[in-house]
Amino acid sequence: MKVYLRTYGCQMNVRDSENIAADFVERGWELCDDAKSADAVVVNTCSVREQAEQKALGKLWHVVNDRKERGDGLPVICVTGCMAQNLGEQISKVVRGVDIILGARQTHKVAEECERLFKDISAKAGTRKRRALVNIDDDLQSHRLINKHIAAQTRPCAFVSIMQGCQMNCSYCIVPKTRGVQRSRPEGEILDEVARLAAGGTREVTLLGQVVNAFGKEAGGKNSADAFVSLLKKVAKIDGIERIRFTSPHPAFFTDALIDCYAELKELCPYVHLPMQSGSDRILKLMRRPYRSKQFSEIVGKLRRARPDISMSTDVIVGFPTESPDDFNMTKALFEECAFDMAYIFKYSPRAGTLSAQMQDDISDGEKEARNQILLESLRVQSQAFNDALIGTVQSVLAEAPARRGAGLLMGRTPHHRKAFFKAGADGIGKFFNVKIETATVSALGAHVV
Ligand code: 5AD
Ligand code: SF4
Repeated sequence: MKVYLRTYGCQMNVRDSENIAADFVERGWELCDDAKSADAVVVNTCSVREQAEQKALGKLWHVVNDRKERGDGLPVICVTGCMAQNLGEQISKVVRGVDIILGARQTHKVAEECERLFKDISAKAGTRKRRALVNIDDDLQSHRLINKHIAAQTRPCAFVSIMQGCQMNCSYCIVPKTRGVQRSRPEGEILDEVARLAAGGTREVTLLGQVVNAFGKEAGGKNSADAFVSLLKKVAKIDGIERIRFTSPHPAFFTDALIDCYAELKELCPYVHLPMQSGSDRILKLMRRPYRSKQFSEIVGKLRRARPDISMSTDVIVGFPTESPDDFNMTKALFEECAFDMAYIFKYSPRAGTLSAQMQDDISDGEKEARNQILLESLRVQSQAFNDALIGTVQSVLAEAPARRGAGLLMGRTPHHRKAFFKAGADGIGKFFNVKIETATVSALGAHVV
């Protein structure tokens, strides 16, 4: 039995898909990269912007159509993740033929349900029930079940989800609706998972959560003061773990104790993704982001003092309702002041069910695109400057994989999360190399082993 898995969206989804893949492998399935010959197709979806949902629906439509040509009733088609949660049964009305719809807190049932239906359809020579199976219920334990990795696939760099959901209330964001309230995993289970990965050869872990630095601070919970800082320190002590990253933190929980970790923990990489969203206090307020531009820039300043070589990335939304040219200029100014060297810039997309969807989406597409392009140009300049400054330096890179282009080249990342390409044999994957940086483009470095 073969399963084809397609993932859209954020790293949390990538991690959920790894867990789904491990569930299939445990049941004796093989992963494949051709949907047409698969026995099950799983599409793990994102709802954060309209476009993300359109892409996933398009993919589903294609797999349903391809199935018509096969005659054996396969593959079983399953949709999971945020869009499954958001649209539920409606998906099977938009794309007729989808078999299984499992919400964001039901991903641990994907393999089991796909297998059940696969056996059923095989036994009945290709006939199936017309109605889709829909389960978008909450599961109080789901956050504890995202802990599996395919043993034979241990990689130098691994993701570990430390929590599920989000308890913030950003007015534009659908995530609290799709992924539910925040629930943190017990610390011991996270540490066990990291230790297992390290024993299998993983050297770098990225701790994941929607608001990763609110770990352990559940609404109505015991509110352990700095559960995240304490977790970081314990992860750093695990044998074999030489690099730690995390994403995404929220400025509102970026405590001094967390900033100090950048100075104190050698395992913590000099890289932080700190979503700014806007540089205008009026817009931040409308977005219900509980910080102002001044506080944001103070955090950035403190981080740079704690770790002068730190690389910073961010998320920005342009064209939020009522965003004036002045508001946008404040965003541009803060973006440049913080000198982000990586960024995801999004054009505002109203999402049904969010607070800001009640406001008029009054910035035209053309204006959103123009603002997007202005920030992309600032970004290009800032990224190039960051990479240029690395030329001539020696960096430690962890080799992750063969380069897609260029035979005999490996791809590894510097501590700043910059991609570097260098000549080394495939047996170097998973090892650290000291490389001298020779060339730099906006997105990559050319290097040689010293
Ligand atoms: N429109 C545009 N961008 C959005 N994001 C979240 N919701 C929206 C939306 N409705 C962006 C935010 C967030 C990132 C993951 O996606 O910048 O940090
Ligand atoms: Fe969405 Fe805000 Fe939660 Fe991030 S913190 S997932 S932007 S609601």
